[in-house]
Amino acid sequence: MITVQDHLFVIETKNTSYVFGGGDVPFGIYWGKKLHGEELGMFYTRDCHSSFDPNLSRNREEYGFWDSYSVLESCLKVNYQNTRQLDMRFQGHEIHSHGEKEELVLHFRNSFTPLEADVIYEVYPEYDMIGRSMYLKNEGEPVEIEILKSGSVSIPPLDRYRIRYLKGKWAGESQINDQFLTGGAFTIQSRTGNTGAHFNLAFALDDGTADEEGGRVWFGLLGYSGNWQITLERTSFQDMKVTAGISSFDFSYFLNQGESIRTPVFTVGFTDGGYGEMSRKLHAFEIRHILPQKKTGRVLYNSWEATAFNVRVESQKKLAERAAGMGVELFVIDDGWFGQRNSDHAGLGDWYVNPEKFPEGLGELIRYVKGLGMDFGIWVEPESVNPDSDLYRAHPDWVYRFPGREPLEARNQYTLNLSLPQVKEYILDFMTRLLGENPDITFVKWDMNKTLTDVGAGDTRTDKALWYGHVRSLYEIWEKLRERFPHVEFETCSGGGSRVDLGILRYADQCWPSDNTDAYSRLSIQEGFSLFYAPRIMTAWVTDASLGDRKKYERPISYRFHSAMMGMLGIGADISRLSEEELAQFAQYIALYKELREVIQYGKQYRLSSLRTSPLHAVEYVGEDGGEAVIFAFYQGYRYEAACPRIYPRGLAADGVYQVEGQEAPLHGDTLMYGGIEGNMGGDFDSRLIRLKRIS
Ligand code: DGJ
Repeated sequence: MITVQDHLFVIETKNTSYVFGGGDVPFGIYWGKKLHGEELGMFYTRDCHSSFDPNLSRNREEYGFWDSYSVLESCLKVNYQNTRQLDMRFQGHEIHSHGEKEELVLHFRNSFTPLEADVIYEVYPEYDMIGRSMYLKNEGEPVEIEILKSGSVSIPPLDRYRIRYLKGKWAGESQINDQFLTGGAFTIQSRTGNTGAHFNLAFALDDGTADEEGGRVWFGLLGYSGNWQITLERTSFQDMKVTAGISSFDFSYFLNQGESIRTPVFTVGFTDGGYGEMSRKLHAFEIRHILPQKKTGRVLYNSWEATAFNVRVESQKKLAERAAGMGVELFVIDDGWFGQRNSDHAGLGDWYVNPEKFPEGLGELIRYVKGLGMDFGIWVEPESVNPDSDLYRAHPDWVYRFPGREPLEARNQYTLNLSLPQVKEYILDFMTRLLGENPDITFVKWDMNKTLTDVGAGDTRTDKALWYGHVRSLYEIWEKLRERFPHVEFETCSGGGSRVDLGILRYADQCWPSDNTDAYSRLSIQEGFSLFYAPRIMTAWVTDASLGDRKKYERPISYRFHSAMMGMLGIGADISRLSEEELAQFAQYIALYKELREVIQYGKQYRLSSLRTSPLHAVEYVGEDGGEAVIFAFYQGYRYEAACPRIYPRGLAADGVYQVEGQEAPLHGDTLMYGGIEGNMGGDFDSRLIRLKRIS
């Protein structure tokens, strides 16, 4: 519920209150556990400290229009011909209701030119989430935007502030990092033109006491797949302001008369149920309000790690036969099926079927796969081009470059300038042809294997807008493709997990979180991923763990399956080399996954124990009504010969009676939750899958 009284804006969700003072400079008053919002007006005034801090409310600006009085990160800063200062005046507000979402819009208008800003709050009461964004419309002289953020939120005064965030690198994404913040600004960001693997655009903040089970946690995620920035600023006046949006690095955007721009959405939330509850809220919210649809995820096979670029119709058919035999539902051919793509040196950009590899076209393999009872999916990387390609030879001017300079080649490729209408058309055309001519393609893995470099097109005045233009065109293309091919599901991939964010997830059904498919390394990658993103989104393959030395990475089949079953199970191993016995084991695990997948993909997830702090790693998934649960447990105990800890399930009905598979006597939910289950594992790389069923 949203109420407004004497410039006091009170947003109430199921469990939280978000209160701010209005006027020309709205500022945060309270955000946290639900209180009596109307009583919070008492915190209202915080004025002057000295001539060095003339207005302390500015430290808590909800949306900082830079007018030279702000000392912290601003949200909007512009350049006019003769001034760089805005004078935005509050014009009024509107409240709308759209089913499960309420919306509050604050209108502002510049006093000296017709520049209008709507500061938007999208409120999801059931999930305790608020989406923050801004819509800017220019009816006056052209204006250059220099800083463009989605909004700021203020965290109440705490003794200490601890940020939890994800950092990483290619093949080592989503590593959880905790850090106490002292004074000054702390920024995580991407300057690589995509979401990036170095940091994910999400944060969680607590006072240093929250854990998986409880404690107050404030959190937020930005939905944007380009250069982004999240800055947390702590002042000497007990303020903690978090500002998120497009990165100000190398950013500029001209808004001409009649033009408008909307920022990405910064989704924020609060819980007093700790990190576990934060993740469960986010997972449910993403499934309900972010993802394009709610559809049970299929078990896929992807041939990349088996055949790499050597994709041939005959060998793919053989893999397909084996995949179908083990119960795979979706067969995906990866890189290498098109152009002269025999390695990563050539062919990218030439989206015709390679005639040597597929003499009868793609149709032959698609029909074969369909005949085996599976669906068909395909890999593309539309934003990139190899210099050794027909596309590049015909259009060297389609890639980002600075005049007279050769662009940087990484993985032997350049990036196409998606702001050029002809490039956008080219991508839309070939994708439309590919999916239109092959209606049995029902899955697309969209990859992007290079950061954006040389982002220029020859005009330094407007070039800085290309970063933003890339993302906008990308979203427009995905939106059109989803409209044209509603039966096709999309996976977002960027050399692993460099494009995982709530922006692309409005169009994608799932993500590829990392190229590191070693089941052990995956545990920490998946743990970090699960902090902010739902298991339904997280693809995980059982592979031969081909990264690095094969022997070093050898893991038991059971361990590999348990690790990959924690999200959207896929198979990426070279199954042509499996023995009959191994094939049978694969088939058994796939069948088991199908039995469990509703609980895994859509249930409530509890991180019970982590290898970060224990020799035991355990994650539980509980079905909607607490009727069924599954625990994946992994053990690394060899080093200290540590005794295997007990496993304490969560989320069961306390007085329900549960049958633990393999255990004779049924037990009550509370006995299990507080008495625990024997860990019963030894050595290294041991793992277990524990099923619990409520019987009364
Ligand atoms: C990077 C992806 O993450 C891999 O899964 C694979 O699709 C390769 N690209 C193909 O080039």
